[in-house]
Amino acid sequence: MSIPKPHGGELINAYNPSFNTETIEKQINIDAIALSDLELIGVGLFSPLTGFLGKNDYQSVVEKMRLENGTVWSIPVTLPVTETTASGLEIGETVKLVHEGITYGVITISELYTPDLKKEAREVYKTEEAAHPGVKHLFERGNVYVAGEVVLVKKPDRGVAADVWFEPEQSRALFEEKGWKTVVGFQTRNPVHRAHEYIQKAALETVDGLFLNPLVGETKSDDIPADVRLKSYRVLLENYYPKNRVLFGVYPAAMRYAGPREAIFHAIARKNFGCSHFIVGRDHAGVGDYYGTYDAQHIFSEFTEEELGIKPLFFEHSFYCHACEGMASDKTCPHGSEQRVILSGTKVRELLRAGELPPSTFSRKEVVEVLIEGLKTEARV
Ligand code: ADX
Repeated sequence: MSIPKPHGGELINAYNPSFNTETIEKQINIDAIALSDLELIGVGLFSPLTGFLGKNDYQSVVEKMRLENGTVWSIPVTLPVTETTASGLEIGETVKLVHEGITYGVITISELYTPDLKKEAREVYKTEEAAHPGVKHLFERGNVYVAGEVVLVKKPDRGVAADVWFEPEQSRALFEEKGWKTVVGFQTRNPVHRAHEYIQKAALETVDGLFLNPLVGETKSDDIPADVRLKSYRVLLENYYPKNRVLFGVYPAAMRYAGPREAIFHAIARKNFGCSHFIVGRDHAGVGDYYGTYDAQHIFSEFTEEELGIKPLFFEHSFYCHACEGMASDKTCPHGSEQRVILSGTKVRELLRAGELPPSTFSRKEVVEVLIEGLKTEARV
């Protein structure tokens, strides 16, 4: 095994800081999700995409989890605008993509089309309920899609994550420099608790390196903010992970909460970073009870390993067991629930926001201290 080729064969580079946007008058104001998509297309993390999806690719992704040419792709990456905005746009023109007054890119419009949003919700998110955070965004963001190739002309400021943002070209070079032939990617939108640490380290026992790769794009409002999480990852890595076996880097994508489909999408992005393996545990990218506990693992059987090009590593629901005196799962622990430390994410966030410590068997003390402190600051803002 070795570092895989990017998805679709080649790393896309659509970044051109010298592209002249001054003569372009028209603009589309884009939200934080579209900005992150623009950036990640631009730096090749969403290879082989070179822009926002056209209608045929979109329909094929929604219905078959593939681009029109057959390449596996599970989440529609689209640029929604309102009907009013769309009525001022023309096919063939190049317009600026502007976020909070700053031009980050341009799109050359190839198509303007009206998606069937309810169908997209059902197929991608498995529900039409607006209580689902991904579906809510889908219904709110606009009902005309603008398709076309993009150029990223300015990279967003990464703020406190600037030193740990490695574009795919950089992460690939770093893996090579370290001599890692096999690297397991780990997605998370949460602080790293003991269960996360357990499955990461279990995976690391069988590969050369671990790419700890938390998502820091837009998440739902009750998730722990990315800057607080970043501090918690740094303190955990400092104290409990061998430096020569772990690369810590952020994944600045928006969270879709699309469960199984997002697990495939997450795996493809990690393949583009250069990972050969990807961890999928319990209810990956899930929210509420929209998905079965292991649906995000089962979906991988719909594709061959060859066409995915990254090997999923599946883990059962893990926990600390008092009787085992260690981390375990149903696969390795014979004891009952009274011996097991299992807390829901919602419960933990409630404890932390109330300044209460979850047990050290659930989360490392150093991590919890950072989280409580971080959330206090959040409350003051
Ligand atoms: S996610 O939305 O990014 O998937 P989270 O940060 O909770 O949420 O999970 C990160 C990864 O760890 C996912 O692959 C998830 O399935 C896995 N995971 C989280 N908690 C557990 C657990 N207790 N046991 C096994 N896997 C887990």
